[in-house]
Amino acid sequence: MALRPLGRHSTRKRTLSATTGSQSSSAPPDLANLREHYVSTGIDRATLPSEPHILMVKWVEEACRCKEVIEPNAMCLATVGEGGKPSARFVLMKGYDERGVTWYTNYNSRKSQELKAFPHAAITFWWGALHRSVRFEGEVAMVSEEESDTYFNCRPTGSKIGAWVSDQSEPIASREEMTLKAKEVEDAFASEGDNIPRPPHWGGFRLKPSRVEFWEGQPSRLHDRFMYSLASDDADGAGGEDAKAMPWTITRLQP
Ligand SMILES: Cc1cc2nc3c(=O)[nH]c(=O)nc-3n(C[C@H](O)[C@H](O)[C@H](O)COP(=O)(O)O)c2cc1C
Repeated sequence: MALRPLGRHSTRKRTLSATTGSQSSSAPPDLANLREHYVSTGIDRATLPSEPHILMVKWVEEACRCKEVIEPNAMCLATVGEGGKPSARFVLMKGYDERGVTWYTNYNSRKSQELKAFPHAAITFWWGALHRSVRFEGEVAMVSEEESDTYFNCRPTGSKIGAWVSDQSEPIASREEMTLKAKEVEDAFASEGDNIPRPPHWGGFRLKPSRVEFWEGQPSRLHDRFMYSLASDDADGAGGEDAKAMPWTITRLQP
């Protein structure tokens, strides 16, 4: 059964133009007064599992069952570039278990280059209809070739072709040029049917968490926040190889 979104009391006026952009209103949106009033059951410290992945699995299941949550596996991935400059973008979580969060991308893209140079990242999920957010921080590594192949092989044909077509993050002069590239790739693989191989420059990454935070909205901005952290994370900012055996510390944070 689909979960119902939690009670929502917005102080903003919902208009056609505000929700679809199909009609323009003369008044600009009153951003200073846009706010949701959160009402949810909250997070009960007494029921928190000792390991964050148990709660994450539950929250992901609930987000997937909630019809109002669009792309429940969409997550904002932040990486660190040259000079410590951060960059963030959305990607789709394509696997989750006690080893961490997995996503797939072009290994030559900006995010991948940044991860190769500095293999640490932060990830944020936002499930608005459920008034919930989860944050991850940790070390990142490429998944095995076999794992990338398995995922690639289950993608629709068009997405497989797209992975060959796009030199992700590189400039391109026009949409027409991209369409032309796509046609060339389609022709090259025409005899393969759906058996298009995974490009060597495309595959998965997994973030192994050393910090996980669960957030649930509460009235008057006095939200619930619980952070799971590994002792090694406080020492060197990374989960490390021994992290699996280490117990998680749970801390309530002020909102
Ligand atoms: C909801 C959503 C999901 C996305 N999922 C992916 C994804 O799984 N992998 C990916 O490479 N890009 C994905 N993108 C595109 C990225 O946001 C981004 O434009 C692209 O990866 C290039 O980022 P980069 O230049 O920082 O490497 C997604 C975008 C959106 C809005």
